[in-house]
Parts: sequence; C-alpha cells; structure tokens
Amino acid sequence: MDKNVAHIVHQLKEKGITGAEVAVVLGSGLGDFAEQIDGKITVKYDDIEGMPEVTVAGHAGSVYYGDVEGKRVIAFGGRFHGYEGHPLETSLILVHIAHALNIPFVIISNAAGAVTQRLSTGDLVLINDFMSPSYKFALPGVPNRIRFDNKKERAKILELAASAGIPLQHGTYFFLKGPTYETKAEVRAYRIMGADVVGMSTAPEMLECTRLGIRCIGISLVTNMATGVEAGKLDHSEVKETAEMRKADFAKLVNLLIAKSA
Ligand code: HPA
Repeated sequence: MDKNVAHIVHQLKEKGITGAEVAVVLGSGLGDFAEQIDGKITVKYDDIEGMPEVTVAGHAGSVYYGDVEGKRVIAFGGRFHGYEGHPLETSLILVHIAHALNIPFVIISNAAGAVTQRLSTGDLVLINDFMSPSYKFALPGVPNRIRFDNKKERAKILELAASAGIPLQHGTYFFLKGPTYETKAEVRAYRIMGADVVGMSTAPEMLECTRLGIRCIGISLVTNMATGVEAGKLDHSEVKETAEMRKADFAKLVNLLIAKSA
C-alpha cells in the first residue's frame, strides 16, 4: 500500500473509522446524501494529514461515517480531479482508501452533461461503460487491462429503482480530463461514437475498483445538456442548481442500493 494512503487510513482508524460495507463517493452538489447517515462521525479532509485539498465549488471536503439502512457506510464528500492538476494517483486516492479499509462495494456518483437527447437534465443514469480515447488510466508500473462490466447486475438495479418509483436511465460515460468543457464538434463526435453522458471523473475510479476486485456502481446526475445539444452556455452554477433539485431522488436511490445491493 502507498505510504500516504496507509498514513491516512491510520488516522481514520484512530478517529473510529475502521471499515464499512459500502463506500460512497459524492459528486458535485450531491454531498447532502450525508444527511442520511445515522450516528455519523464527520472528519474534514483538512484535518487528515496527507489528504489532498478540495478546490471545486460544491464539494464539502469531508469524510462521513455511520449507518444507512442498517449498513455501515463511509461517504466521501469531495474528490480530486485531473482537471485540478492532480496526478492519476491522487484522483484514485478515495478508492485506495476504501481498498485499504477492505470495503467490498463502492457507489460512485458524479454530475455529468448529456450528449444524447434521449436523456434530460435531472436524469439519474446508471453507468454501463466508459470511453476515454485520449487518456488512459494506467498507474506507473501497473498493467490495467481490466474492463468494467455490470451487464449481469444492470437489469436488477434498473428493476430495483423502477419498483421504488425512482426513474433511472442507463448509458455510456465519456471521460474528459478537462479543465474546459467540450466544444460542440466534440460533443457531436462523442455522440456518434456512442457516448450518452460526458464528465471529468468516475471512470478512473470505477476502473480502479474493478482492477482491485471491488464491486462498484456508477451513477451520473445529468446536470446539463452538453455543449451544443441545446442552445445556451454552460457554467458550473447550472450543475449545482440541478443537483439541488434532484438530490432527494439521488439520496433515495443510493439508500436503495445500500439496502438491497450491498
Ligand atoms: N461536460 C463535462 N463535464 C461535466 C459536464 C459537461 O457538460 N457537466 C457536468 N460535468
């Protein structure tokens, strides 16, 4: 294990965060899920030596630990993106912490733009697969030929959501390192390639979970239509506003996945 991850995990254990059945990574604007956690311990990233700094608006920068639906859960409010200048290893640190804590199941969420008109702002999307033609997620010296595949459990998850009255779409996530949003021409190309949503996180984390043998589920909240899919300009406030509107359903869905799927 990386020395820094070991040091972080040591501090978490000292604070009573010893292990969990599920880890949840909370995407932009989705941090309110933490309110669902009973009897929770909250630790600010700032109070953990070796934890990188959170710079994105809408990310709390805290670890939460407690129970959801009778299961022990650790939730990370804030992650570290390549577009902030972090190396891949830092983008993967939450997965590595979960792995060091022997957590068998990780739910990873994000805010994403819809590339296809099949989806609308506010949709929750179960991630089926990824594309990242220009950026590969290989850590130095670690061959990664693993492919994520949730085909077997996809139908079950969609059915679970439907039976609870939570609309859940599914689709392919196109990873971009950013930091800029994509151009109209790029979005058109991604759509032709088969992408459904576009975003700047999650794909590396899910592939790393797969490589490490951690079961994982990825959920995108469509916070905006990607550039050119509809008229108008994009900015981060739109991402936050949509997340605000849909956070209750997102929390319901994550609770359901914890209750029935962990
Ligand atoms: N593009 C890339 N990343 C995003 C978007 C988008 O439209 N929306 C939220 N994250």
